[in-house]
Amino acid sequence: MSKTILITGGAGFIGSELVRQISCLKDRVIVIDKLTYSGDLARLKSVKNKITFYKLDITDNKRLRALFDKVRPDYVIHCAAETHVDRSITDNTPFIKTNIMGTQNLIDASREFKVKKFLHVSTDEVYGEHACGYFKETDQVQPRNPYAVTKAAGDLLVQAAVKTYGFPAMIVRPCNCYGSWQYPEKLIPVVISKILSGQKAPVYGQGKQIREWLYVEDCARGIQKIFQKGIIGGIYNIGSGFEQPNIKTVLAILKLLGKNKDSVAFVKDRPGHDFRYSVDFNCLKFLGWKPLISFEDGLRRTVAWYIQNQKWVKQKNKIRR
Ligand SMILES: NC(=O)c1ccc[n+]([C@@H]2O[C@H](COP(=O)([O-])OP(=O)(O)OC[C@H]3O[C@@H](n4cnc5c(N)ncnc54)[C@H](O)[C@@H]3O)[C@@H](O)[C@H]2O)c1
Repeated sequence: MSKTILITGGAGFIGSELVRQISCLKDRVIVIDKLTYSGDLARLKSVKNKITFYKLDITDNKRLRALFDKVRPDYVIHCAAETHVDRSITDNTPFIKTNIMGTQNLIDASREFKVKKFLHVSTDEVYGEHACGYFKETDQVQPRNPYAVTKAAGDLLVQAAVKTYGFPAMIVRPCNCYGSWQYPEKLIPVVISKILSGQKAPVYGQGKQIREWLYVEDCARGIQKIFQKGIIGGIYNIGSGFEQPNIKTVLAILKLLGKNKDSVAFVKDRPGHDFRYSVDFNCLKFLGWKPLISFEDGLRRTVAWYIQNQKWVKQKNKIRR
């Protein structure tokens, strides 16, 4: 018998990829999203007849509860969040509301309506930075920027519900994702869109920070694998094993766009910028998942997508708030 899967933040970058993948299954897919500046239904155009969409803010507990009562989800995958570190440094209020209070509302509604499995999408940023070595799921959370603190708080609320009430939840912590449809405020789409509009590529500090990169399709497949095979109460990192300093990533993009290092503009570093994130993802490998798209291939596809979709990017840059 088909089940009902409710996905929050399904009009966002990772959530929409997950919805596009899951909508091929026979389950009923319900998407809820507030459609903030970073949410966009255009990402779901190709699957709009296969899903049911509700514009809904997860901090609105009354409407959220009413929706759960109406659709009675069997499963919940929680991707909705405020996600941009720089914005959290300027004003962390929406992050606290959505990432902490919104997550608690979802836990409460899921418990009340007896959701069978709840998957909380977190981030590797909750671990803090690591000069060398890899974060394991058993490591303590030591978040160092306002965004990461709110995500870690969401994780702790989920873990508390698992321990206190036997809530059937699991947590996933992906590394940095990239790919098509990413809002042009994160490193890779910012660099591509700046260059395509004739500007220089802004790089924080000297670009020495190291990030681990995962193609968004691989991330969504990883989330599905954990959802199907992960254990209740489990935490799973999703990594790619491919890491490099940001300047190398920027130079690789410039090369694909026929430019060189003269197109880089070094700008004042982000305050408290974490130096390096890197995760051990052996637990997920053990479930039978591995990344399929190399960074070289993923970056080529991503640059090609942004070249083909410059109208969308321009529109996003125009309405940036
Ligand atoms: N992008 C990455 O590299 C990355 C890496 C690790 C983890 N994550 C996590 O993955 C998840 C998805 O990230 P993303 O990159 O797709 O982000 P995104 O900003 O592209 O999408 C977030 C979505 O959540 C929606 N949303 C925000 N506040 C809401 C609210 N109050 N109620 C309902 N919907 C709301 C937005 O409208 C948007 O559609 C987040 O939880 C994020 O912390 C992202």
